[in-house]
Amino acid sequence: MVNPFFITGIIPEPYFCDRDKETAWLVKTLENNAHVLLTSPRRMGKTQLIRHVFEQPCIKDNYYTFYADIYPTSSLHEMVLFLSKEIYAVLVPRGKAALDHFIAFLRSLAGSFGYNPATGTPSFDVKLGDIHSPELTLEEIFRYLEQAEKPCIFAIDEFQQITQYPEKNVEALLRSYIQNMNNCRFIYAGSNRHILENMFNAPAKPFYNSVEQTHLDRISKDVYTRFAIDQFRQAKRTLKPEAAALAYDLFEGHTYYVHHVLHNAFAYLDPEKVVAEDAILSTLDGILEEKGRTFASIMNRLTYQQKETLIAIAKERKARSLTSVAFVKKHALKSPSSVQYALSTLLDAQLITYEDDKKTKVYSVADRFMEMWIVKTY
Ligand SMILES: Nc1ncnc2c1ncn2[C@@H]1O[C@H](COP(=O)(O)OP(=O)(O)OP(=O)(O)O)[C@@H](O)[C@H]1O
Ligand SMILES: [Mg+2]
Repeated sequence: MVNPFFITGIIPEPYFCDRDKETAWLVKTLENNAHVLLTSPRRMGKTQLIRHVFEQPCIKDNYYTFYADIYPTSSLHEMVLFLSKEIYAVLVPRGKAALDHFIAFLRSLAGSFGYNPATGTPSFDVKLGDIHSPELTLEEIFRYLEQAEKPCIFAIDEFQQITQYPEKNVEALLRSYIQNMNNCRFIYAGSNRHILENMFNAPAKPFYNSVEQTHLDRISKDVYTRFAIDQFRQAKRTLKPEAAALAYDLFEGHTYYVHHVLHNAFAYLDPEKVVAEDAILSTLDGILEEKGRTFASIMNRLTYQQKETLIAIAKERKARSLTSVAFVKKHALKSPSSVQYALSTLLDAQLITYEDDKKTKVYSVADRFMEMWIVKTY
């Protein structure tokens, strides 16, 4: 029996929940030839939504769709590698003619990918060191996209990453190619709303005014709980509406966390028993216990000041004015400057995140499970 609550990998269509409006908007916008900026808090469902859009028949049948998550990249070399590898992977199942077309454009990588001379099967063996001139290879990639047999949609996930590259003017370089393209639409996605909106909304920036923007929010409670109850029902099991509502409310509907709790409830609870609220709470306890070891080892690597700052943020849930005397006093922290210092390390390590609210930064622990574990443990 398949667990209908997918928490990793690509979600098969029957187990994908809602996003009807967002999907329709994205399809329409892409069909109207606009590029898109898609932002959301982490783990709200951006990547799954992009995959879902690519599965829509009007997209699937008429476009080549590419998806590259560039989060692990830290240079233009790596980005070029990721983009070319994705195009290769999409074209291989399309057959020899499609792949040959791409290979013909990528002269700068000739020899590192194409066909294995011994077996004749497609192979991709590009190493970072093979990319001698990333600008040139990038240009070849974009020329290919412009000449491909079908219109293309290229989703670049965690796009804010390009601002971290050591090469200068990557934004301007990309923009200069993209603005002349007619055959390829781009979806730029990412969770760092602050950096992304600055890239696209500041008049001095190369990408200024080049996209239609959308910010992905939680799935509505009504729709999500109905989906969850229905998934249990289809497996001939019962999830009480109050229990579905509790799972949703525990995380204010933050998709991944709610989904994870229901995944485990489905996996580990007695299938004969009705799932009520107490079972949701004990399932959550189980998750926190299981993840606790990892959280504990992360905590162990922090300095005392970082740790106490993180604990204070977890206890506040949404923490404001962290460097104020009042906050420092309330949580018995060392000093405003020690908090300031700890904050920047915690942000770099992505253990905390923030959103802007009327010019003040509101901090929270990035992982909601970790936040709950800290509150329980300290
Ligand atoms: N529409 C959906 N239906 C069912 N589950 C979903 C849906 N959207 C998201 N999820 C659940 O939330 C998880 C996270 O989704 P996804 O990876 O798309 O988020 P994200 O916004 O891209 O996160 P990150 O910022 O970490 O990359 C999925 O693995 C899945 O468990
Ligand atoms: Mg993602």
